Amino acid sequence: MNITIIGAGYVGLVVATCFADVGNEVVCHDLDDDKIARLSRGEVPIHEPNLAPVVTRNRLAGRLRFTTSDALAIGHAGIIFLAVGTPPEGDGSADIDHVLAAARSIGRLMERPLLIVNKSTVPVGTADQVRATVAAALAGRGVDIPFDVVSNPEFLKEGMALQDFMKPDRIIVGAESAHALGVMRQLYAPFSRNHEKFVAMGTRSAELTKYAANAMLATRISFMNELAHLAGQLGADIEAVRLGIGADPRIGRQFLSAGIGYGGSCLPKDVRALIRIAARHGQHLRILRATQEVNDAQQHLLFERLASYFNGASALRGRSIALWGLAFKPDTDDMRDAPSLVLIRALLAAGATVRAYDPVASGQARRLLVAEHGEARCAASVLFASSAQEAVEQADVLVLVTEWQEFRSPDFRYLASTLRAKAVFDGRNIYDRAVLDAAGLYYEGIGRTDDRQGRAAHP
Ligand code: UDX
Repeated sequence: MNITIIGAGYVGLVVATCFADVGNEVVCHDLDDDKIARLSRGEVPIHEPNLAPVVTRNRLAGRLRFTTSDALAIGHAGIIFLAVGTPPEGDGSADIDHVLAAARSIGRLMERPLLIVNKSTVPVGTADQVRATVAAALAGRGVDIPFDVVSNPEFLKEGMALQDFMKPDRIIVGAESAHALGVMRQLYAPFSRNHEKFVAMGTRSAELTKYAANAMLATRISFMNELAHLAGQLGADIEAVRLGIGADPRIGRQFLSAGIGYGGSCLPKDVRALIRIAARHGQHLRILRATQEVNDAQQHLLFERLASYFNGASALRGRSIALWGLAFKPDTDDMRDAPSLVLIRALLAAGATVRAYDPVASGQARRLLVAEHGEARCAASVLFASSAQEAVEQADVLVLVTEWQEFRSPDFRYLASTLRAKAVFDGRNIYDRAVLDAAGLYYEGIGRTDDRQGRAAHP
């Protein structure tokens, strides 16, 4: 089939690449000249495992093309996916201006019947707005060309994007016509071969399903983070509790890890947006507000732990804190809503300096921090190390922020010999206290047995 994807961001690029890889002729459109030029040369602007070779393979085969031309993109296909950004507005609600602008262009330029598929995460009712926008543009031209609008939210995770798209748990399709549903079934058949993954519903239910999924995931994490505090205080270990409850198939093993709070481009934004959608309809989503409140507090936890370790935030002045990991999770360079930023801001405000290492996200982090604090302040206070080892040299303590594979089994004896205060704060519970004890290191995790939880510990 001929497919166009409008928007070459994370979702758009992955979707375009995967549809091309199963034999479709795909055109991927973006307004950003530089991005399209880079993609056309074979440069992939995001860090996503295995994406670059698959883009290249399909680009060279001529099945995947990139363009900034509206006319080319809209003329190419019978199916057009909208995968443009829906950034949060000041009050947290999703801004759908880019979605509606794309709908207007489609209405102005389309010459044949079209299936317009919305992949962006959008407020409930957006499919209806897209339909009205395209219809108005067609009416303005005085033409009547049939079209359908479908809602097909995307559930891929960064770092696992190709795998998630190629082998999805489910394919949600909100459609109001049997024809649209039929085309979508055919399009997704290669990704749904062995099991029936297709879940058909109305467009509004599909739009809400996306928010509901991310809100549920966020709520599980906040629940575990809150329980972790209790576990630590009671002398229990949240990691044991996680294994114990995860064995119940009604609960399931995934998304139960306590840590330093959820971040990234979706969970925080979608929780805020769903709260706003409900508020507009006079509903106060109590559980989701609590989810957000717990997460906001959780992102400050490591700073509080460091402050109490050194006997008060003022004692952090002049300290050097090593950070392993900056990205909001491993296998991505994405720094959007990354908990590391909350920690770095607080450390700089307290007069500490930071030595940070991340395998891929340092460039993004530097850009954000320079924009916030200025070049000079950033250079004086944050060192972006080129290795995990360089980050800990002459540091007082180490904070594990992102659980990249390469941080899982460090040389603890080396850490004990180089960290001036001989302490490790594990924001992801990946280390074993007994091993660190044996190496002569003080250890604090999140909700682990014997966590001191705020009691001053630095001798
Ligand atoms: C999420 C959804 O998982 C995905 O389905 C949707 O399409 C987009 O949003 P993503 O943002 O890529 O994907 O990351 P995800 O793996 O879900 O992690 C989100 C955040 O939760 C990260 O900050 C992660 O560290 C945190 N997390 C995850 C936990 O703190 N504990 C867990 O057990 C799992």
